Amino acid sequence: MKTKIFCDIADFKIIKIFNTKSIVDGFTTNPSLMRIAGAKNYKAYSLKILKVCNKKPISFEVFADEPKEMLKQAYEINTWGKNVYVKIPVVNSKGLFMGQVIKELSNKGIKLNITAVYTYEQTKKIYKSLNKKTKSIISIFAGRMADKGKDPLPIFKKSISLTKKSKNTEILWASTREAYNYIQAKQLKCNIITMPPKAINQISSFGKSYKAMTLDTVKGFLIDSKKSKFKI
Ligand code: E4P
Repeated sequence: MKTKIFCDIADFKIIKIFNTKSIVDGFTTNPSLMRIAGAKNYKAYSLKILKVCNKKPISFEVFADEPKEMLKQAYEINTWGKNVYVKIPVVNSKGLFMGQVIKELSNKGIKLNITAVYTYEQTKKIYKSLNKKTKSIISIFAGRMADKGKDPLPIFKKSISLTKKSKNTEILWASTREAYNYIQAKQLKCNIITMPPKAINQISSFGKSYKAMTLDTVKGFLIDSKKSKFKI
């Protein structure tokens, strides 16, 4: 079983480059990444991205906070392209589970990426709300969990074992912190991992020998010492 690699980025120029790489199977964006990319008009910027990325799956998130408005945005985003997944947060900012939103959209055949997931309880509720005939992704935020001293692996194991019977439901390792997370996601048989461009580039140097790594490290320190003209 293959763990697909998505690129976690909203920058149009980077998406254009990474879309040509065979190692990249898709893309994920979020409102913060859109902001970092300098997007001013959410729709116009998304459509610009979709001009260069119109085959590989890409997620665009709703940014409304009320279920009614969220549904409106989701229906609109869904019309932007056949390869679009609409990203819905598992809860809104009031902590209210977005089950009805997920249910309605999924029953209409809209591909969803349910985001900001941190517990197995959330996975279970999401899975129950999804129409299993519709493609969907459940994004579990590993890095942000680890940043707070929590082990992300147990929730992945349980979530993967719950959803593996449904070929249309994929578990995505989100919030990647390092290239090694790809190995972890593969070991777990996670369907997808989304990684920042830098971590994707690092995968190409997997398999490097310890000897070569030591030499590269020592050489790097030496080069910087010379550049700074350090003297004791
Ligand atoms: C997932 O789709 C998110 O865009 C992303 O992985 C968030 O990661 P972060 O914790 O690096 O912001």
